[in-house]
Amino acid sequence: MPAAGRLRYLEALPRGIDRARGVRSESRGTLVLIHAFPLNARMWEPQLALADRGWRVVAPQLRGVDGGDRDPPTSSMDDYAGDVIDLLDALHIHEAVIGGLSMGGYVTLAMFRHAPRYFLGMVLADTRPQADTPEGVEGRKRMLRLVSEKGVAALADEMLPKLLGDATRRDRSELTAGVRGLVLSNSTESIGGAIAALMTRPDSTPLLSTIHCPVLVLVGDEDTITPRALSEDMQRAIAGSELVVLPGAGHLSSMEQPAAFNEALARFLGHRL
Ligand code: MLT
Repeated sequence: MPAAGRLRYLEALPRGIDRARGVRSESRGTLVLIHAFPLNARMWEPQLALADRGWRVVAPQLRGVDGGDRDPPTSSMDDYAGDVIDLLDALHIHEAVIGGLSMGGYVTLAMFRHAPRYFLGMVLADTRPQADTPEGVEGRKRMLRLVSEKGVAALADEMLPKLLGDATRRDRSELTAGVRGLVLSNSTESIGGAIAALMTRPDSTPLLSTIHCPVLVLVGDEDTITPRALSEDMQRAIAGSELVVLPGAGHLSSMEQPAAFNEALARFLGHRL
């Protein structure tokens, strides 16, 4: 995986684009996709196919993730956001459609809070604007104890039934094993840092009415971590935004229903940008 600034990233370029002749001038635009917790950038591999529709796709790997030891893990959503902004600068990307799934959505909102000028459009998948509730914070503390006492495999056992929808877990053992592999790629330290960032993130609800770029909200209809009703509320709070509900998907909708997810994204990119 190449690196720029402090982050590694996955990238797909539209066919026929010659990097030497300038990526920016020849592609339709750049789509930046930020991964969920506790996964890594490889969760976006099915979305790299959007390069076939003319978009440059960049998927940053958040700091400390998947053995990334260039930096100590962070404990702040703002650090993750600052790292992605630095990556955009290092890649000379001045504006892009920026989005993420779940924690990737929290990072996206933190980026918008600090640097809205980078946003041509926004994609918020299986996420929410609210901060953790007091019960949510207690749950995070239990998770921290679980990881430090029993390791990352115990976290994977606990989270997989929540991350994936019923249909996926029943019928798609390969995908379930693949997600487990992504979780296991992370160290106890990076997971501990991410949990601290999750439980201290601010409420982004007041930000929603200030978003005036085109926004696509996506949610799996079997998502139990960030249920559909939260996406409906978020879509109502962002003027002019669109909501797409993906049948047969749980929380990891981009991995569980990649064709429907990509179709919704391609339609949004085609019509709204
Ligand atoms: C994620 O998928 O990124 C996490 O489940 C987010 C969260 O726990 O709030």
